[in-house]
Amino acid sequence: MSFNPSSFIDEISPQLREKVGNSRVLIAVSGGVDSTTAAALAYKVLGEKVVPVMIDTGFLRENEAISVKEMTKEVIPNLVIEDKSEVFLSSLEGLEDAEQKRKKFRDLFYETISSLARKYGTKMMIQGTIAADWVETQGGIKTQHNVLVQLGINTESTWGFTVIEPLADLYKNEVRELARYLGLPPEISERQPFPGPGLLIRVVGEVKREKLNVERRMNAVVERALSKKGLSQYFAVVFDSDSKQDEQKSAEVGARVKVYKARATGVKGDVRSYGHIASVEGDLNYDKLRQTVMALSKYDITHVMYLVKQRDHGKYSVGIRAVHTDDFMTADVPMIEHGELLSIAEEIMKDQSVKEVLFDVTSKPPATIELE
Ligand code: XMP
Repeated sequence: MSFNPSSFIDEISPQLREKVGNSRVLIAVSGGVDSTTAAALAYKVLGEKVVPVMIDTGFLRENEAISVKEMTKEVIPNLVIEDKSEVFLSSLEGLEDAEQKRKKFRDLFYETISSLARKYGTKMMIQGTIAADWVETQGGIKTQHNVLVQLGINTESTWGFTVIEPLADLYKNEVRELARYLGLPPEISERQPFPGPGLLIRVVGEVKREKLNVERRMNAVVERALSKKGLSQYFAVVFDSDSKQDEQKSAEVGARVKVYKARATGVKGDVRSYGHIASVEGDLNYDKLRQTVMALSKYDITHVMYLVKQRDHGKYSVGIRAVHTDDFMTADVPMIEHGELLSIAEEIMKDQSVKEVLFDVTSKPPATIELE
């Protein structure tokens, strides 16, 4: 049956009103489709009782807070930006393990919500969790920062507020339909998803301020360059360039293979795996790259990247990630012309801290869309 936004709103409104009663309710808007739609829905149903806040965690995209406030001003008036970047950055700096980073971010995020809830006099928050979030978390693929109840976390005793999730049964395409219906601009409703922990999970491996700034700038370069291609998701990741050439794997795939110290997440069977990033160098066509991914995924390798451009100096590797997907549970990598990748790489390498630019050629599975 096709999704009908108007009936959905009719059905969810009395439930929302009953849960919230006469209280105020906080909603954290990340600028992503889900949380922004949840906020627009809440505002439509509950009006002034809703306190919409955007927490600047320091891991937002370039100019994100200001542009989201501008894009949503008709549908979510009074969006408040709370700058907590120093708290997040100082607590996350130095962490390296993907799960630890996600868990720490989640704790900081909800501690912040808890203090904001006190500040705004409420014990309730609305959250834009959608079906895929809890399906994958329950499957053990990752710890979504926003899935709490499904993980058995009692938010009331841990942080002093209850969570309402009006979009929990919807899939991404349904959320987009609802967003359009609610009058959100296409810049939001058609926007590519952006993960709750933000750029944190795209600064792959150890979190460092300089590395984060490189990530933020390069992510903007990649978004600008690929925005017109109709991709489901496209972004940049940054990791430390330390790597070793692997003779045995090079011989096996017939191209130069380097294995990085940096690790990234993948999916094996139905569970999440954590392995290394590898790069391949050479004149490789699409079929050859697919075979290489298959061959290397037998090892402790979760993401395979094709080397676009390199030089002798610099300490960071920048990976370009681009995927096509319907449901975000599986994803394919489109072929992007070498010349196009090269011109993006040239733009990225204007930054002297970047040693090389790579293009991630791994589908999901065996990789995940994000690298952590
Ligand atoms: P993965 O990397 O698991 O990503 O293949 C699937 C989709 O989920 C997004 N994603 C997240 N979204 N909180 C979110 O709100 C998270 O912690 C998170 N992790 C991944 C990812 O961007 C992709 O769209």
